[in-house]
Amino acid sequence: MTDLSTTVDGIRFPNPFLLASGPPGTNGKVIQRSFELGWGGIVCKTLSLENEKVTNVVPRYGKLGAHPGSKEVVGFQNIELISDRPLDVWLDELRQCKENYPDHVLVASIMEECTKDRWVEITERVQETGVDAFELNLSCPHGLPERKMGAAMGQDPDIVAEVVGWVKSASKVPVWAKMTPNITDITVPSRAAVKGGADGISAINTILGVIGINLDTLRPMPTVEGYSEPGGISGRAVRPIALRQVMEVARACPDASVSGMGGVMDSEDAIQFLAVGADTVQVCTGAMLQGYEMITKLCDGLAAYLDEKGYDRVADLVGASLPYFTTHADLVERQRAAKRAKAGETNRDGMWKGDIAKETDSLVTD
Ligand SMILES: Cc1cc2nc3c(=O)[nH]c(=O)nc-3n(C[C@H](O)[C@H](O)[C@H](O)COP(=O)(O)O)c2cc1C
Repeated sequence: MTDLSTTVDGIRFPNPFLLASGPPGTNGKVIQRSFELGWGGIVCKTLSLENEKVTNVVPRYGKLGAHPGSKEVVGFQNIELISDRPLDVWLDELRQCKENYPDHVLVASIMEECTKDRWVEITERVQETGVDAFELNLSCPHGLPERKMGAAMGQDPDIVAEVVGWVKSASKVPVWAKMTPNITDITVPSRAAVKGGADGISAINTILGVIGINLDTLRPMPTVEGYSEPGGISGRAVRPIALRQVMEVARACPDASVSGMGGVMDSEDAIQFLAVGADTVQVCTGAMLQGYEMITKLCDGLAAYLDEKGYDRVADLVGASLPYFTTHADLVERQRAAKRAKAGETNRDGMWKGDIAKETDSLVTD
């Protein structure tokens, strides 16, 4: 099979696929299982210094079917917080994972309150376990922002740059900053993260939404004691938005690595993320719905694609679609030029200036 290994920020990944921070990396046991099954890496569930401050509710997941009554899940909502397990337990487990699987990539997702002391402390304590990189969760859109954490920090470029700087001052391994999509221009905090010293940008975290309203009770879902809150939407439904934002990040931050995610269900989805500039691809909801075993199909599909298209390495595919994103004005100009070329027209002044719509229509139907 084509070699899928790739080196990003000096880290060698056996393949470009990581499980994204969330339930798939909720403890050391499942992390080791994912490595056993062939995942190139994993970003563990987000850790913080004080798990006592984290209280989850049940239910905390909601599903959006393809149509009423359908079992096909197109969108997923969660109001799950970061890990509620003690940091000391986590540190032992991370150490064990690295000892048993030194060739697989273990990324520690961390989040803290907005003080330098706390970010430096969690960085120093976690890196002693031998993790390969950090991912800073500056993007959880629900629950944590009530404590001025997660997306509350990630939507402020000055705070993003500062926090990344704090972590970089203590970290000996690469640092990725995970961006919130719940912002008009994702390139602003992304550039700030790079300015602060980030080696890479991860995108996207979940998109804030309301998965549905129960028509019998008129209560929003997922319903906890009759009430709910907007949560993070993930899965297939978010993929077009994720692809757009990953593309924007890749163009805005050419010197940073990019880890792309959002709605990856199969190898074709993953290839699209690589094509818009992601060096690695993360999967959360896809693995929750299909199982960790989906890694086999991801690898087989990517290897077959690279083979068929004549790419020697994963890195050669990264960003291959970026040159083809342009402005609307440029599209109009290109279409005019194509029409002129087709008609053998060389004199630009000979165009019917007010007739662009007609011209476009004829191109479409030609
Ligand atoms: C149930 C659930 C829990 C999540 N928990 C975290 C988390 O602790 N930290 C984090 O950075 N992202 C978390 N995420 C976000 C995912 O890592 C990912 O950014 C997002 O779901 C989009 O990818 P996907 O469509 O493949 O799920 C969570 C997602 C889900 C569905």
